[in-house]
Amino acid sequence: MLLILVTLVHAVSIVSALDPPQETYHGHKVFRVYPGADTDHKELLNTFTHNDQVDIWRTPRHSNDSYDVKVHPDIEIDNFIQELENLGTDYKIWINDLQELIENERKPSKNIEKRATRYIRHDAYHTYPTILSYMNTVAETATNADVELGELGKSFERRSMVYLKITKRGGSAGKKAIFIDGGIHAREWIAPAVVLYIIDQLAFNPYNDPDVSLMLDYFDWYLLPVVNPDGYQYSITTSRLWRKNRSTYSGRCLCYGSCVGVDLNRNFAFNWDPNLGGSTVPCAETYSGESAFSEPESRNLGRFLCEHGSEIISYISFHAYGQLWMYPWGYTYQLPHDYTDLEEVATNATRALRNVYSSNYIVGSSTNVLYPAAGGTDDYAKGQCGIKYAYTVELRDRGHFAFILPQEQIVPTADETWTALKTLADSIIRKEHLNR
Ligand code: ARG
Ligand code: ZN
Repeated sequence: MLLILVTLVHAVSIVSALDPPQETYHGHKVFRVYPGADTDHKELLNTFTHNDQVDIWRTPRHSNDSYDVKVHPDIEIDNFIQELENLGTDYKIWINDLQELIENERKPSKNIEKRATRYIRHDAYHTYPTILSYMNTVAETATNADVELGELGKSFERRSMVYLKITKRGGSAGKKAIFIDGGIHAREWIAPAVVLYIIDQLAFNPYNDPDVSLMLDYFDWYLLPVVNPDGYQYSITTSRLWRKNRSTYSGRCLCYGSCVGVDLNRNFAFNWDPNLGGSTVPCAETYSGESAFSEPESRNLGRFLCEHGSEIISYISFHAYGQLWMYPWGYTYQLPHDYTDLEEVATNATRALRNVYSSNYIVGSSTNVLYPAAGGTDDYAKGQCGIKYAYTVELRDRGHFAFILPQEQIVPTADETWTALKTLADSIIRKEHLNR
């Protein structure tokens, strides 16, 4: 069976080796910075944010936790280290040369198990055009479900934001739905890859998993692999660590390359506030935009979520990295009135996930486990559209490869996440007494 699949893949798949990106990261380093008991956190943060050569990849979640910060080689490394030492922080050089990691990421994986289904390899990252043609193929050839292709609208650069609706073959309408997306942040490549794997499982059920029928009996599925196609494609072709979309507006300062783009996960119109974990500075990585929903990508997704708000019972947005399964709110430390339901479902899902390859996930509200940040999709889905089980999931890893997760980790990551998703669906069925 496996042999047949592998042969088919070689015959018809769209295997695309990624060309190297234009921008290189020779000498870029990632520091892991441990603030000490008497470190002035404000000062430390200032050192980071007032330096455009420093990109904060991860902030501490509790007092003994660390920052991951990427520093540009143009920075005076010795000065930077001196500054850290003056502030009384410990640090280590966590990634010495990012370019090496990026080149490593593109090496094909050796692990052949489960990597191949009929039309796409899951042990490789793919370009946006390849993802689109895969989605077209799924819509035409799905064997396990009805699959419909839809467009949410166009991105800033007029790429089509394509999703799939996957439903039970000839099944009755009017079920609750689960909406899943990935790739709102361009550089988090594992997220679209995981969504593609989920599409494959639902549309083809390649391993004849009996749970898949149950998932289709009870739910309709919406899958949007790439919320931010312009940024994603830019990250693939040009600048691996790009995060935002690619919008430019007249009047916005374009003094640095990074002044292009808005952080789409700060742009949603529910308690939008650039001063809460976002930024009013266009060049910042977390620029919240000129106003709520200033960006076509967030408008398109937001409109769809609320139009289908009474139908969609769960919204899951995949990000990387950190291994966190988070629920709202991101704009306040307060918890939703029904947070125990969200917590219980997430706890079940991550427990199942852990049983696959022992990956540990932390469950909690995003403000409490990560940091406050207003304008996220999850808050909007729950607060504005009434979607009860809204989650943001930070996939693998916990910082070792960070955004540059090697291709050979795609299938294991997707596999464990798929198991979590099955448990999540099952828990929601039980808790909500859903009938098929
Ligand atoms: N890392 C994600 C981000 O910074 C977490 C988002 C969590 N949700 C939220 N509404 N803040 O966008
Ligand atoms: Zn993200």
